[in-house]
Amino acid sequence: MIRPATAAAIAAAADLIRRGEVVAFPTETVYGLGADATNAEAVARIFAIKHRPSFDPLIVHIANAAMCAMVARALPAAAVALTERFWPGPLTLVLPKTERVPGIVTAGLPTVGVRMPEHPVARALIESAGTPIAEPSANRFGSVSPTAAAHVEAQLASLPLILDGGPCRVGLESTIVSFADTEPALLRPGGIALEDLERVIGPLRIGGDSPSLAPGQLPRHYAPRVPLEIAAAARDIPVSARAAAALLLPRADPDARGFAHVEVLSDDGALTTVAANLFAALHRLGAGGYARIYAVAVPETGLGRAIMDRLRRASEGAPAARR
Ligand code: TXA
Ligand code: MG
Repeated sequence: MIRPATAAAIAAAADLIRRGEVVAFPTETVYGLGADATNAEAVARIFAIKHRPSFDPLIVHIANAAMCAMVARALPAAAVALTERFWPGPLTLVLPKTERVPGIVTAGLPTVGVRMPEHPVARALIESAGTPIAEPSANRFGSVSPTAAAHVEAQLASLPLILDGGPCRVGLESTIVSFADTEPALLRPGGIALEDLERVIGPLRIGGDSPSLAPGQLPRHYAPRVPLEIAAAARDIPVSARAAAALLLPRADPDARGFAHVEVLSDDGALTTVAANLFAALHRLGAGGYARIYAVAVPETGLGRAIMDRLRRASEGAPAARR
């Protein structure tokens, strides 16, 4: 059931979390499915609801430094520097875990993903539940993450409570930086740009040692229900394929003619706006009855790296259009 995220609704959600239930709530990145991170049975419900494989670790969401110390061991200096600059916000750090975190949360890994979200509803809920909250994106495994309460309800209708805090400001999942190895590494591009991280801690290695341990990084993920194909520009898309297709554009383009539907993600091509609107557009177009979605690429700098990462995973394995 969707409820506006009033103080009373947040208190009810905190109560459900304390009782070991699962509730959906907004963060600034995407909507998530939360449970008490210290309660293995509650966390198991998340995996069941999402149809998520047990080898895919969850991110633990915290509201303050005490909760961080509860789930993660002493942070390296570079990790501290990142938390000082980017928490609360769309940054997840993979750190050595404490024994308070049950193995189901981390898929048996000795590390835990930790994030302090910035969204006022998420913060109030975690504070009020009084426990760190394990929270993956509130979608069925492999499909597009929700950026609005209605997206959650469309995929996971039987949840006891979906807190509605409006559309997500960032619209892409958090950036994940791992401190599991000696050198910090970027595991997932996301809401904080790589360039901004590197300004604080210097050059980052791209990708971890064990890609199989980051299933959010499976080649096909974040996928809408119809085949998606990336195009460098609208004019490259064959005219014969347009009538049955929807087109996703970062900004308006006079070459975008003859499509069944055209969706423009921003007025000016600003990547923050493109990111904020991307998943809602994929949800809409995925349900629109089109034969195919074409998405026009953005430059791979700043947030463009995360946008292109999600578009590539959404397009992976989709059969190519006949020309
Ligand atoms: O923005 C976000 O991060 C959203 C919101 C709800 O906070 N959450 C999210 O969670 O995207 P999820 O479960 O969809 O993606 C979590 C990913 C995993 O698939 C895995 O790739 C990585 O985080 N991860 C979590 N813990 C890890 C660990 N200990 N080592 C390596 N990767 C980890
Ligand atoms: Mg996810």
